[in-house]
Amino acid sequence: MSGGSDVPSATGTGRAFGKVILFGEHAVVYGVPALAAGISKGVRATAQAAKDDELWLNDRRLEGDHELYQALRKLRGSLAVPAASLSLRVELPLGAGLGSSAAMAVASARALGELHRSTVSEREVFAAAQAWERVFHGNPSGIDVAAAQAMGLIAFSRGEEPQSAPFSGHLYLAVAQAGPPASTKTMVEGVARIQKRNPEQFSKTLEAISSLVHNARVLLRQGDQAAVGKLMDLNQMLLSGWMLSTEEIETACAVARHSGALGAKLTGAGGGGCVVALCANNHLQEKVLSAWESKNISCFSADVVGDGGQHHEHV
Ligand code: MEV
Repeated sequence: MSGGSDVPSATGTGRAFGKVILFGEHAVVYGVPALAAGISKGVRATAQAAKDDELWLNDRRLEGDHELYQALRKLRGSLAVPAASLSLRVELPLGAGLGSSAAMAVASARALGELHRSTVSEREVFAAAQAWERVFHGNPSGIDVAAAQAMGLIAFSRGEEPQSAPFSGHLYLAVAQAGPPASTKTMVEGVARIQKRNPEQFSKTLEAISSLVHNARVLLRQGDQAAVGKLMDLNQMLLSGWMLSTEEIETACAVARHSGALGAKLTGAGGGGCVVALCANNHLQEKVLSAWESKNISCFSADVVGDGGQHHEHV
């Protein structure tokens, strides 16, 4: 929770996380549950009082017509706080499907909350960050924001409180940037057109993804990560049926599988952006990362520890 003292402070700080979606992206927009993990790379925000809004992104001041100002105004409106100078330090690749925008929103809401108010609840942070997200993408399910608020694995269903998804062990994830990212809005609109063309087939795919998510939760609790990996491959197949995959995504998935990953899929909006691979241990995770590097695919590791997705560390 941001704030916590009775007197608003002269500087507010907030931290939030990037995310990987392990199962259920896009389907989550239609009410299917999804499984996502907050990762340790994220965003730190520092807010100070100012007459007019000012935004700094990794030490570069953004011009006043940048669309992040519009998002900031929506966020402030939701929190009912005045203008501020916000400095954002982003550790994630921007717009790559790793939730950088939602992490910026959550970190900013926490920093503004600490600066201007004595307390801001997680529910208020969620609502404010969703107002920010709607500037970029008309119909966000809320999963990016929920994962940005959490650290660890969460199960998210649209319109419901996110639940932590306890699991045994440790998830050794490898994340690759498989080509330039596409706009989430465009990809979500593309899927909506597919639904319109063939609603019956579309609901069958939603049902299939829904059972993948359900089974993945059970298998994660049981510690059967090999089976979870197979379900990730199936989810990837269903996502490519919605035209969300690309040659680069397929190559990154294939390289990961050939290097010993248990499963691999796109994560986020697709059409480019990132691939996530699940690895059985640290050795195989390193192997997948080296295989990607040898093909000039930039990548990093993101581990998730089975603590059940406790809410954020405030830094
Ligand atoms: C984007 O990270 C996830 C999508 O499912 C969109 C959303 O849920 O808002 C593609």
